[in-house]
Amino acid sequence: MRVIAIDGPAGSGKSTVARAVASRLGLDYLDTGAMYRAVAFAALRVGVDPDDAERVARVAREVAIEVGEAVVVDGVDATIEIRGPEVTRAVSAVAANPDVRKELVQRQREWAERHAGGVIEGRDIGTVVFPDAHLKVFLTANDEERARRRAKEVSDLAYDQVAADIARRDHVDSTRAASPLAVAQDSVVIDTTGRSVDEIVDDILSRLGAA
Ligand code: CDP
Repeated sequence: MRVIAIDGPAGSGKSTVARAVASRLGLDYLDTGAMYRAVAFAALRVGVDPDDAERVARVAREVAIEVGEAVVVDGVDATIEIRGPEVTRAVSAVAANPDVRKELVQRQREWAERHAGGVIEGRDIGTVVFPDAHLKVFLTANDEERARRRAKEVSDLAYDQVAADIARRDHVDSTRAASPLAVAQDSVVIDTTGRSVDEIVDDILSRLGAA
């Protein structure tokens, strides 16, 4: 089973790069952030407070999540809503919940088994979910560029708001007790600031040749 782990903070280029690497290698692609967002969406939908650890953990164990072209949560197409401001506000607390992580990590490992590996993107893929990944990549970019990229995607929010939200989530993701965002000791760190997607993908593929 060949797993390529791509981790990094918001706006580092993870999704774009991970999708491109998967398509160049003919491997399947999994966005684990979409799974945490799906749990946050499911909790909000039934009126569960994202800070209520026990009830959110129950939601995580019971919810049906399909992550593909569309993200379907308990039969509801939530592709658009999981990227919206409400879910984005709630997701950090949901992702800091150790019982939620336990459930989703298990589902991620099962996904990889079923798909005979793949390109898997997140925050803890190289450190926790697949410590034996074939290749681990940690993408970074400077704060300004990350906020600029994300502001382009969510056209209804101003740059300042997006920058503040990214800074808040970076802080929570890096300081939480359960699987904080961290660079795996054997990962390749690539700064994507000012570099094109093709360049970064070529860089990763060339390392794979050497790996
Ligand atoms: O929008 P962005 O690319 O920053 O985030 P995402 O990849 O959609 O993930 C949303 C949130 O889920 C992150 O802020 C993390 O709190 C959490 N997450 C995580 O804890 N572990 C993962 N493997 C993936 C995402």
